[in-house]
Amino acid sequence: MTMTPEHTAAGTIEAGTIDWTTDYDVLDAEFVANPYPFFDDLRQQCPVPHSNRWGGSWMPTTYADVSAVAHDIGHFSSQEVGVIPTQVDGDDPFPAGLPPISSDPPEHTWARRLLLPWFSHHRVEYYETVTRDLCRRLIQGFVEDGRADAAVDYAQQIPVRIIAQILGVPLGMADDFTGWVRDVLEFAHEKERQARGRDHIVAFFVNALEERRLDPKDDLISELLHTEVEGAPVPDGHVLGIAALTLIAGVDTTWSGIGSALWHLATHAEDRRRLVAEPELMPFAIEELLRAYSPVTMARIVTEDVEFAGCPMHAGDKVLLSFPAANRDPSVFPDADKVIIDRQQNRHVAFGVGIHRCAGSNLARMELRVAVEEWLARIPEFELEEGGEVTWAGGQVRGPRSIPVVF
Ligand code: HEM
Repeated sequence: MTMTPEHTAAGTIEAGTIDWTTDYDVLDAEFVANPYPFFDDLRQQCPVPHSNRWGGSWMPTTYADVSAVAHDIGHFSSQEVGVIPTQVDGDDPFPAGLPPISSDPPEHTWARRLLLPWFSHHRVEYYETVTRDLCRRLIQGFVEDGRADAAVDYAQQIPVRIIAQILGVPLGMADDFTGWVRDVLEFAHEKERQARGRDHIVAFFVNALEERRLDPKDDLISELLHTEVEGAPVPDGHVLGIAALTLIAGVDTTWSGIGSALWHLATHAEDRRRLVAEPELMPFAIEELLRAYSPVTMARIVTEDVEFAGCPMHAGDKVLLSFPAANRDPSVFPDADKVIIDRQQNRHVAFGVGIHRCAGSNLARMELRVAVEEWLARIPEFELEEGGEVTWAGGQVRGPRSIPVVF
């Protein structure tokens, strides 16, 4: 399949020359802005394409294949989950990785168990009040202006502040955190920038560990430092990795989810008005927006040569778990490319599937729902600003980075 010039990204690849079945590019600007036509074409013509770009990878595009890889932890390891390869000179600053996301059982099992209570329904209920209050204050800051950037002024500001509270770190550092997480995820293809983000995160948490050791507080880091697994303290490297993962996994993802939801509502007046008129549809709408605009793609490493869906995969190959592609598979979701805000059957995999299924999904769903509810309560009518440019980030986490709107 050769994409026509309209399909190609200006400036990144020569027009008309890319065969997406053998040479897809997950950072292609056109793909990042709207990946769904690419997934649809691939699913029909070559459902498990391979590309040598960005270190080389396979990319299953059907729901069944993505789920099968996620479940087959024997052949597909989580030792390397980055869509874009991590480029580290010298020692890896995260010697224990980022458990549980970057680990396989048995380490995965205990690392996940330590984290789950922090995102239980009970804790999330407490954070709902905090989130609602934060959303109201943010909206108050721009509602009189008649315009705002729904990504920068709103979506981006919410998850990072909630995670900061869970980690017990100063809210005043929210912008630093956001910058570091963007360096690690959004700019993973820029070696120096990614290294800078990782270095900042490591330095911050090494220091936080020392502080909590001397002066424990009621937060995740303190608890991890004082927890034992099989009679021994959790090693420092693991505490560092788990804390860093909480920050990295909880910020860009949810910010992107909130941003995509608001972008959709800014561009689909009929859905927006229906949601305002029928607020009881909100839980369905949130699930549908998560399905349709799933932010997260993960990776796995093949552990031994295996034939998968007719493809000869070799030990060490990377396989992308494109949850966004799986969730647009028309054999599972009728009218998959349509957003149906009251869709009833919706077994989407935006939060992954199998043993690594998102540990923070309760929190993410709550933040998404509250952010949209509060926005619609104050700003029921809004649309994209004429001449304003919506920009998207892609790769590991896809979502809008700027959404200029007027109201
Ligand atoms: C809309 C927002 C979010 C989306 C779409 C999302 C998506 C995902 C996905 C797809 C996975 C599976 C990874 C894999 O299979 O390798 C995952 C894992 C994980 N997520 Fe989320 N996530 C979101 C928000 C959050 C939040 C707010 C947190 C809280 C810190 C969080 C923490 C985690 C953790 C700790 C894991 C690893 C679980 C494990 O390996 O057992 N996520 N997430």
